[in-house]
Amino acid sequence: MEDVISRIPKILNSARDTAEKIQNASDIERFESEFFGKKSALSVLSKQLKELPADQKKEAGKAVGALRQQLTDLSLQKKKELAGAMQKQKWESEWIDVTKPAPANCGSLHPISRVQERVEEIFQSMGFAVADGNHIENEWYNFDALNIPASHPARDMQDTFWIQRKGDNPNKNFVLRTQTSDVQIHTMQEQGAPLRVIAPGRVFRNEDVDASHDAVFYQVEGLLVDEDISLAHLKGTIETMLGHLFETDTCIRFRPGYFPFVEPGLEVDFQCTLCRGKGCKTCKQTGWIEFMGAGMVHRNVLKNAGVDPEKFSGFAFGFGLTRLAMMKFGIDDIRLLSSQKIDFLSQF
Ligand code: PHE
Repeated sequence: MEDVISRIPKILNSARDTAEKIQNASDIERFESEFFGKKSALSVLSKQLKELPADQKKEAGKAVGALRQQLTDLSLQKKKELAGAMQKQKWESEWIDVTKPAPANCGSLHPISRVQERVEEIFQSMGFAVADGNHIENEWYNFDALNIPASHPARDMQDTFWIQRKGDNPNKNFVLRTQTSDVQIHTMQEQGAPLRVIAPGRVFRNEDVDASHDAVFYQVEGLLVDEDISLAHLKGTIETMLGHLFETDTCIRFRPGYFPFVEPGLEVDFQCTLCRGKGCKTCKQTGWIEFMGAGMVHRNVLKNAGVDPEKFSGFAFGFGLTRLAMMKFGIDDIRLLSSQKIDFLSQF
């Protein structure tokens, strides 16, 4: 019995020393296998206990039991300490200072939004309202009402995404609008004449995408309807708007152009603001930038939208906001605009 009891303090000391050095979960495992495992001193003592004579078993058994308890406490204590230390480390690593000022590199407006905002400001200063339109549009608004009936070859000028929604009347076709000109009809129907409105927004064409073509791009539609309106008003409006946008006097020119919803129809170019008409890379050496389609609103269109063509006349125009933004900021690939690339976007 003495043999058994006398070994206990040494085992306990060694366990305390080992426990002292515990740093992590695998140290704990090692501790447990060393002090509770099959080959541990504790299990040797337990075996020896069984061989002791009955009168000694009780006292020795108590001592060995107490040792087992102390070793168990030691291991539990270490596990608790370790869990506490890990929790503290986690909290420290996750700590954030909610009172810290926000990082200085906050977001910025997309180049298209920047140009759109400026264009809206300029037109608003000339008394134009800003209207919104539908991306999904009834074929009548996108084509028929604009003097482009189903059989009209002009329907092929714009590659169209036709859509059929669940539950739609199969005789009524819907499209992703190919132009913002649909807003002309909506605003005339809703507000009648006189009227001054621009409508910036997305349009969709079923085109192959390359550096200068995208299937989704932005246009700005303009419409002014009043009594005695002529092309001179259109010219003045566009010159004023470009002058403000580029902050310099801007020369424009009209060329004949065909759009079924205007008569006469025009293509409008402005003199290249970079080379002042001398010819450069941006204007492909022509000195002019093709800017937009325009013209006097066709009387059929006024009639279709419920405006009296005997009393009122008007001009309409449509230009590419995407192209304007690319020109203003010197962006040479249209795909960058929808790329969501932070290093591109953060330049603006
Ligand atoms: N909607 C025409 C286009 O997308 C542009 C335009 C608008 C032309 C208004 C004339 C009048 O090409």
